[in-house]
Amino acid sequence: MSEPGPGTRVVRAGLPEPKQGEPFLPGPVFAAPFHVTGDPYAAPHAYTRYGNPTWTRYENAVGSLENAEAVLFSSGMAAAAAVLITQARPGSVIAMDSGCYHGVRALAETYIAPNGVELRLAPPAELAGAADGADLLWLESPSNPMLEVYDIAALAARDVTTVVDNTTAGPLLQQPLELGADLVLTSATKQMSGHADLLLGYITTRHTEYAEALRHWRRYAGAIPGPFETWLAHRSLPTLALRLERGCDNAIAIARLLAARDGVEAVRYPGLPSDPGHDVARRQMRGYGAVVSFDLGSEERAERFLAAASLVTDATSFGSVHTSAERRARWGGDAVSAGFIRLSAGCEETADLLADVEQALDEALRKS
Ligand SMILES: Cc1ncc(COP(=O)(O)O)c(C=O)c1O
Repeated sequence: MSEPGPGTRVVRAGLPEPKQGEPFLPGPVFAAPFHVTGDPYAAPHAYTRYGNPTWTRYENAVGSLENAEAVLFSSGMAAAAAVLITQARPGSVIAMDSGCYHGVRALAETYIAPNGVELRLAPPAELAGAADGADLLWLESPSNPMLEVYDIAALAARDVTTVVDNTTAGPLLQQPLELGADLVLTSATKQMSGHADLLLGYITTRHTEYAEALRHWRRYAGAIPGPFETWLAHRSLPTLALRLERGCDNAIAIARLLAARDGVEAVRYPGLPSDPGHDVARRQMRGYGAVVSFDLGSEERAERFLAAASLVTDATSFGSVHTSAERRARWGGDAVSAGFIRLSAGCEETADLLADVEQALDEALRKS
């Protein structure tokens, strides 16, 4: 039989061999210490901060989707911090996409740069130049919330350790390690778990020494995932391809509707042929994701849209089965205008969603 496709692999990823009378996915292992006599390092598990069987099962599952080792953390930010801290030393130079997730930028500016690290924040057109002579290159593609697309293979080919935040795409839509990246960050809070009910994050890498350094940091920093959240994420993994398929279908349908509508500006979705990132995205992605961004021109219009929509929940984050959107400027931290909205398409029926978005646009764009 040929190699099963990703939508097949997620269904059984990380599950143990079938055993008579045993469940498909064993339940979460709740334990601080485990019974251990003698050398704790010789025992399979001794203390959960050092390792937990529920994490290992999920790490094997998500690692197998990228043919890599995965190291799991309590959130995407905990995973980002682990990479920055284990990679940066006094004297290091980090080139970072200035449009990447604002939390990662804040972390680097506040806690990494003051320790003798040169941080070069660069907009898309200048990122390759900023990477010259850098030790670490950090980029996000498609970026959150602007949905800028970077040519990952071209950037990773430079002589620099490259980290790609793959959260908006995830491993089924984009494989940065295959494109030459050294480390990949995925916030599993988003579509990997997909139900808006937990936070988790992980790093994948094919460099054993990087994975080892990340596990060492996790052990001593204590930024550990909870077994229950980990189990819930594993429980949600088999439906990832189905959820994504519907989310991507809904996203392109909404993007087309928005792009055709007078009064809606700056629609960004890498799946639209008119999008500036489309050609690169088509080369490096298997699908374009569930996130769409657009500008309604003012805070008032954007708020009217959100208030009028009933199938679009006003909430932050993305990648859930529920369609959600928010006026991004309410948080600060991103260079976005007052009417800018980031929308995450969920798994509702496309016709219902389009009808709801259309009537919310009518309401938002009516002359007041
Ligand atoms: C692109 C990106 N990276 C990282 C993170 C951080 O993930 P978490 O919220 O799981 O800490 C987020 C959160 O929104 C994100 O959008």
